[in-house]
Amino acid sequence: MIHIKDNVFHLKTATTSYVLKINEFKKLEQCYYGLLIEDSDLRALGIPWIMEVGSNVHYSKDIKPSSMDLMLLECPEPQMGDYRHIPLNIWVNGLQLSDLKFVSHQLTTVDDYSLPRAREPHQTLSITLEDEILKVLVHLNYLIYEDSDVIERFITVENLNPQPCVIKKCSVNFDFMNDNYDLYSLHGAWIKETHLQKQPIAIGQHVISSTTGASSNRSNPGFVVGKETDWFGFNLMYSGNHKSTIEQTSFKQLRISSGINDEMFEWILPSMDKFSSPSVMMSYANNLDTLTHQMHHFVNHHVIPPFFKQNPRPVVFNNWESTFFDFDEKRLLKLAKKANEVGCELFVVDDGWFKERDNDLSGLGNYEVNKKKFPKGLTPFIQQVKKMGMDFGLWVEPEMVNLESDLYRQHPQYALTSQRDMRFGRNQLVLDLTQEAVRNYIIKQLNHLLDTYDISYIKWDMNRHISDQGHQGHQQSFSHRYILGLYEILEKVFSHRQVLLESCSSGGNRFDLGMLYYSPQIWASDNTDPIERLKIQEGLNLLYPLSTISCHVSGALSQQTLRRTPLSTRYNVACFGVLGYELDLEELSSIELKEIKDQIKWYKKYRMLYQYGTFYRLSNGWQVSHDHQHMIGVYQSLGKAGSPPEKLKIKGLNPKNHFEFKAKGQRVMLNDMRELLHHVAPIKLHSQGLILKTASQYLSFKDQRQQLEASGQLLAQGIWLHSRYLGTGYHKDLRMGLDFNSSQYYLQQKEKAQ
Ligand code: DGJ
Repeated sequence: MIHIKDNVFHLKTATTSYVLKINEFKKLEQCYYGLLIEDSDLRALGIPWIMEVGSNVHYSKDIKPSSMDLMLLECPEPQMGDYRHIPLNIWVNGLQLSDLKFVSHQLTTVDDYSLPRAREPHQTLSITLEDEILKVLVHLNYLIYEDSDVIERFITVENLNPQPCVIKKCSVNFDFMNDNYDLYSLHGAWIKETHLQKQPIAIGQHVISSTTGASSNRSNPGFVVGKETDWFGFNLMYSGNHKSTIEQTSFKQLRISSGINDEMFEWILPSMDKFSSPSVMMSYANNLDTLTHQMHHFVNHHVIPPFFKQNPRPVVFNNWESTFFDFDEKRLLKLAKKANEVGCELFVVDDGWFKERDNDLSGLGNYEVNKKKFPKGLTPFIQQVKKMGMDFGLWVEPEMVNLESDLYRQHPQYALTSQRDMRFGRNQLVLDLTQEAVRNYIIKQLNHLLDTYDISYIKWDMNRHISDQGHQGHQQSFSHRYILGLYEILEKVFSHRQVLLESCSSGGNRFDLGMLYYSPQIWASDNTDPIERLKIQEGLNLLYPLSTISCHVSGALSQQTLRRTPLSTRYNVACFGVLGYELDLEELSSIELKEIKDQIKWYKKYRMLYQYGTFYRLSNGWQVSHDHQHMIGVYQSLGKAGSPPEKLKIKGLNPKNHFEFKAKGQRVMLNDMRELLHHVAPIKLHSQGLILKTASQYLSFKDQRQQLEASGQLLAQGIWLHSRYLGTGYHKDLRMGLDFNSSQYYLQQKEKAQ
């Protein structure tokens, strides 16, 4: 996988090559990143920069042209005539690290676990550069994941100088040429996370960053650059303040760097010590779907905890949207009974189960059970849930504290405040995870919970941004130390347990590879409206596999948007991921409960497809494929009257195979039809009358069940879907409704290609 010859490093994955060479100035130049090439091609690589450019500075007075500004550099440095942004900003005694020269390389194994790194690399290379004057080494580490076509990169700075080294910036760099590429990045805010933004890359710098203390709902650390037949994916494995700069020059050079945000960052590295940057994952493919599949494969096989690799995830029931804080054991047991009846496998008690927690004003920091809600404690409740046949899960928010809590009363110094008063977010303060005593306190409380109760799942929440960073000193390194503290807690509590950890941060405020290293699934958003989720999940799907995206079916009237959507659509969106339910099951009619039971039965039958299948974006929906089975969701957000017939083009099929194509059965609820029932029902009844109200508890009608057989060739070219019902001229073969409606189709291969 790694071939080294004549000063050239050829890093190979199954389908890609990344080539670096040490040039005559002992600088590392990036020569190629693309589909796999032969070693014999290496001589033909690299850009022969033969022109002299007027005002440019030459690196060498003897060899011209030797402008570093024109080279594609692996580890650019300041002060040498390269005027693009520089990913390393390191100082010793007032002198800036510069003029790094190649010293050696090593085919080695990773021994740096100061931060989460991907698991089980196939091969590892470390290239060492040195600033001879400052006596500082920079190790560029490359970890190859051949099967996923991903290369992990991180930098280690080693200080051999007797003086301490001040690291102000340490990002991984990638130089190449722009070919009119677009930038695809994921942005948003609370309840509108990871919306995909696509923009052409133009001259200048574009920054994707966070300063909130978490990877944030504003800008995800992962992004893609490319167009047509060239696609590059990047994702930083880090959960804190991050920054990626995408810079294009007027010579079309593209420089991309990614790492810890250098705003409010400074790390003092003592003599003879090392500092390592977070890892950046990079991948190349010649089409966007393939790039997505590579990144998904990588997360499923090399990031999430090994126990959960390809492990079927349970269908959970979570009480949050049905009860908020207003529950007790009796109410939860009623919900649990219904959740069990419809087929849920794990019952999660969300926020509000502990002492002093009846709203979001108090209680965070307490780990004792709320005796008003669970008079006999949690154990009898858990036993009853287990007796029904479900596993049990619990919500915690260990990084936070309310003033009204035992923890704050006993240890006010654990909370992060400043000399300039306190700043609250959701009425809570952040605990200072840079303090060892705080970390030990949290570890002790969590271990106690997990050792005392029969808990199979933990939802780890974090509900505010961080402010007032670092009143206890080391202000400039606070954010990074906080994240190191968080990783230490997660490692110590969860790495030896098989508890399913679901990370959450006011929804998807910390959806990143760093968290996925510990928690195989993440709550994507507090917005459970399926039409909003289409955008959120589609954004995430660019880089994160379905197994990592936790999605719940909530009530008909969305609590976030007040939009009313059919139960079928809520399910058709939530099942493309790890499915759960969080709505008041007691409010539902018998027919709705029956529909949910059927949904869960269907999901369990095809669970591996929905959780680990290969994901494709279609022009009008989503597709997931695994072995010879495919599931397709087609969604209608806002319809237009008189729209033309709709074609469905399916991806990734062998053109020669034959398939059976069938709409998944789903019920149309009488309630959803209201007065249109006049056109559908054989007899006229008032839509709000007693008869129909009673009937709608038990009756529904079936949505269309389009069915056909076709070759992979035709299905790829496209088949026409049944028309939509437009209010008049009802027929049982019409698809129901315009806005917010959806259908799901199942495709099964009939016979193998000859
Ligand atoms: C925010 C989460 O995203 C919700 O799902 C819920 O757990 C609340 N916090 C509880 O406070």
